[in-house]
Amino acid sequence: MKLAIVGGGSTYTPELIDGFIRLQGELPIEEIVLVDTDPARLDLVGAVSRRMLTRGGHPARLIATDDLVAGVSDADAVLIQLRIGGQDAREQDESWPHDVDCIGQETTGPGGLAKALRTVPVVLRIADVVRKHAKPDAWIVDFTNPVGIVTRALLQAGHRAVGLCNVAIGFQRRFAEEAGVAPDRVGLAHVGLNHLTWERGVFVDGVDVLPGALESRLGDLAETVELAPALLAQLGVIPSYYLRYYYAHDEVLHEQRHHATRAQEVRAIEQDLLRLYADPAVDTKPEILEKRGGAFYSEAAIELLIAIRGGTVVPRVVNLRNDGVLPFLPDDHVIEVPARHVDGRFVAEPVAALPDDISGLISAVAGYERLALDAAIHGGRDRVLRAMRSHPLVLQHDRAEKLTALLLGANARFLEWA
Ligand code: G6P
Ligand code: MN
Repeated sequence: MKLAIVGGGSTYTPELIDGFIRLQGELPIEEIVLVDTDPARLDLVGAVSRRMLTRGGHPARLIATDDLVAGVSDADAVLIQLRIGGQDAREQDESWPHDVDCIGQETTGPGGLAKALRTVPVVLRIADVVRKHAKPDAWIVDFTNPVGIVTRALLQAGHRAVGLCNVAIGFQRRFAEEAGVAPDRVGLAHVGLNHLTWERGVFVDGVDVLPGALESRLGDLAETVELAPALLAQLGVIPSYYLRYYYAHDEVLHEQRHHATRAQEVRAIEQDLLRLYADPAVDTKPEILEKRGGAFYSEAAIELLIAIRGGTVVPRVVNLRNDGVLPFLPDDHVIEVPARHVDGRFVAEPVAALPDDISGLISAVAGYERLALDAAIHGGRDRVLRAMRSHPLVLQHDRAEKLTALLLGANARFLEWA
């Protein structure tokens, strides 16, 4: 197969390449094309990726290019993993919400809205090129955040797309390790919207081990998501660490005010990574890549590509159209749940009815996501304000007005209509 990776100059790319090498028996790839607008990164990441493939005995040809059309031409699948404005724009997203005592985060809350506005139009333009030039049945696998909103934008425009995140696979791998079994023997009852999910069951060979785990090692489980043990105990589920921005909002805000932003940390890690990628002796994935948040993202991508090629029908957690799975959301909303790939499309596993506190929060954030996508596609200050106010972390009109002004001030150069 030919695989195109848009945003291929990302410092994360060697994580993917490492996965392709380890799992080459399961996923035959003849050609990998890294497409990126940043020539310096493309050179470094392309070179280290080639050395890794050679060292790992992977036969794929690797091409690095800034030509999107050539890059995606005749591709069987296109991975999109880009960050408009890079870490600089992210640093802004993580900072200006503090002015009104709101957390700053790149996918959750006001910062996530800014990211959606910057990103959706670009991804849609890329997807149009994919539609014209890739194989007719090519899939777009979207890693680009905010994944829920971006995936819905793609589906709404008629693209063959699925959204992916590593939160679920992280839980699955951890539970598999603890149970001492292969990951495919562990299934998750994972539910919600991207970066707003809860694990309601952890099935090892079909038996739910979550209730027992919540009893015997509640403290450990709570610590992994940095939430109060009593919260997990009462809900009887494990919220993802992104729920911290809601359940522990003020605590996170306080921490953020006394720490460097994640963008600043990532910038430093990236400098070290790029230095390693520039070293001709480096031909394996550097250990410090583990300091980034993307653990297992290569395996998530590869499992999905294998499924798309008809290789397996084990459910994988993906972002896809709701179509009645969560009856309180519109059919065209994008949700994150386990799904099987059957006859060329993803079909969600059934989801048991949710308790009101969880379905209520999902509904509120879904409403925000719909307004955010509307603002990203059609532009305009009014639409931004409306989306901003609808986010449950904002809600107050006056705050929303201030946040909208801050967002537009920090992002004008990324917004065609502003
Ligand atoms: C996790 C999330 C991704 C996010 C990443 C950020 O992997 O699932 O959606 O992009 O963390 O990691 P970083 O190292 O950039 O903070
Ligand atoms: Mn994610």
